[in-house]
Amino acid sequence: MGASAKNATGETVVEDAKVEAGKSNVLDARLSLAEVRAQRDAAPAGIMARDMLPENLSVQDLAVLLKTTVRGWQELQAYYRCALMEVETKFKVLNEQFSLEYDRNPIETIKTRIKSPESLAEKLARKGLVFGIDTVEREIFDVAGIRVVCSFPEDIFLVADCLLAQDDITLIERKDYIANPKPNGYRGLHLIVEVPIFLHNEKRPMKVEVQLRSIAMDFWASLEHKLRYKKKLDVELAAELEDELLACSNAAADLDVRMQMIRNRIEASRRAQ
Ligand code: GTP
Ligand code: MG
Repeated sequence: MGASAKNATGETVVEDAKVEAGKSNVLDARLSLAEVRAQRDAAPAGIMARDMLPENLSVQDLAVLLKTTVRGWQELQAYYRCALMEVETKFKVLNEQFSLEYDRNPIETIKTRIKSPESLAEKLARKGLVFGIDTVEREIFDVAGIRVVCSFPEDIFLVADCLLAQDDITLIERKDYIANPKPNGYRGLHLIVEVPIFLHNEKRPMKVEVQLRSIAMDFWASLEHKLRYKKKLDVELAAELEDELLACSNAAADLDVRMQMIRNRIEASRRAQ
């Protein structure tokens, strides 16, 4: 039995239902229709968009839909993990090379993450898009994210330029929130890049969001992020805190400039010796 479902825009969300007889439906052996529907309703919105499933879908169709959607998402997640490994390795190699050649590490820490199904569903909804594995890959550029924290602001541009100079990296988008901080004081250099991953039978370009920050920028952004998700504050206090956060961001930027100057003076004196 074939199973495919069309979403609101006529897009096919599940194409293939060639599941062998006997194995085809794990669910009908163990779950009643009511249970399948309950599972569907309880599923995180990102895993399965409820609105896309017609009420009269058979248990078998639901089983196949569930399996193929989950499998498709797991596969895509694996591709994004591979892309993150590629980009992370590139940064690690750069750090290693700088350590050997110049006796310093421009990178302090590297963190990677895959966007959760909940955040993906929220972002798709915000963009007015219907959930589908292919829509995620086509429209969302930060499914895979890597945050690189550098010691000094100059290192941010150094490692970003080194990454972008590599011939398998394609720059899709660049946002310089260091030259142009956000109104709340957020600073960082954001790149969306495309990197190929090599699977056994294909070369697949994957998008990765790279966020580069200095330690001071990261310190500010991490605290601001935590504070933003705290309980609702009254309007007056929130406004005061916004001003205070902006002042802290300026102080952090000032610190960055001063620390950078200290390093430059040390390096100049070393070169002069
Ligand atoms: P998104 O839909 O969130 O991707 O918005 P966008 O495409 O305009 O992305 P942008 O490059 O501005 O920011 C993406 C990411 O940067 C966020 O998910 C955060 O991790 C980080 N970021 C951006 N602005 C802020 C901010 O004001 N505070 C903090 N703490 N992080 C921020
Ligand atoms: Mg973004």
